Amino acid sequence: MSTFVYLSTQDAVVAAAEAKVSVFDRGFLFGDAVFETLRTVPGPRLVDGGPHLARLRRSAARVGIDVPWRDGELDAVLRRTCEATGADAHQVRVVVTRGEGPLVLDPRTATRPTLVVIARPLSLPDEAAYRRGIALVIVGAARSADGLLDATVKSANYLANIQALRIAAERGADDALLCAPSGTVTEGATSNLFCVVDGALVTPPLDGSLLPGITRGVVCRLARDLGLAVHERPLSPADVRGADEVFLTSSVRGIMAVRSVDGSPVAGRDGEGPVTRRLRGAYAARIEALAREGTRRGG
Ligand SMILES: Cc1ncc(COP(=O)(O)O)c(C=O)c1O
Repeated sequence: MSTFVYLSTQDAVVAAAEAKVSVFDRGFLFGDAVFETLRTVPGPRLVDGGPHLARLRRSAARVGIDVPWRDGELDAVLRRTCEATGADAHQVRVVVTRGEGPLVLDPRTATRPTLVVIARPLSLPDEAAYRRGIALVIVGAARSADGLLDATVKSANYLANIQALRIAAERGADDALLCAPSGTVTEGATSNLFCVVDGALVTPPLDGSLLPGITRGVVCRLARDLGLAVHERPLSPADVRGADEVFLTSSVRGIMAVRSVDGSPVAGRDGEGPVTRRLRGAYAARIEALAREGTRRGG
């Protein structure tokens, strides 16, 4: 089982070591690209493939990158790349760059878009890691505040988030929470944020300052199905530090508890809280149900 890559420049699925893109590709030169990360269950079946492909198209449209492949074509390419790995479940990254061009910024100089799909066997943290949770630090306004880099676009420009992770590592933490210029907390470096306050979930609103996470939406629905109230409202750093539970959501890792914020244990507890655990159970059950369906239908 190993990593395989589809390259539109060759219209072929190749082993990771053989996968090469041009140094003149604008994705490499300027981060001029959009992407999605998602997982599969046996089949292979994409988990929330529809919403991920829709977000890819929306991101591309927002930055004016053409996506000439139809959903059916993308789905087939993703499936082909996953099947080459020999694994049951995968982490998949889909990248669409504006294509190759001369060494100038002008986007009109790009040739045709490049599609790259990377499928690697899924590797998740173990149960003990989910129960332990992670240490977070709150980093100030890490995303660009110039209004041109849209936080709702999943573009290849992750330098601000990488900076935030560097700061987190310097402070001995596992992950970082980013803030809006107003000072409210928006999201993790590669995840959305939830707090549990008096038994209800609170998550920052989709006000343009964060990525509308697919898992965020799934978790809001699962929580409501479990009878939990869900409030979308701004959270200050003090709100997060004072929450009863804190957790992060993303498509591959799912729901990950936060053990500490800025060095202080969340609610003085050691590890995952009860609401987070209950939601993680519901999330795991959903993945298992999708896997059963995928196996029955053959993907
Ligand atoms: C900045 C950011 N926010 C949130 C998320 C979570 O989104 P999703 O649940 O769609 O994976 C990600 C995922 O990579 C991300 O990079």
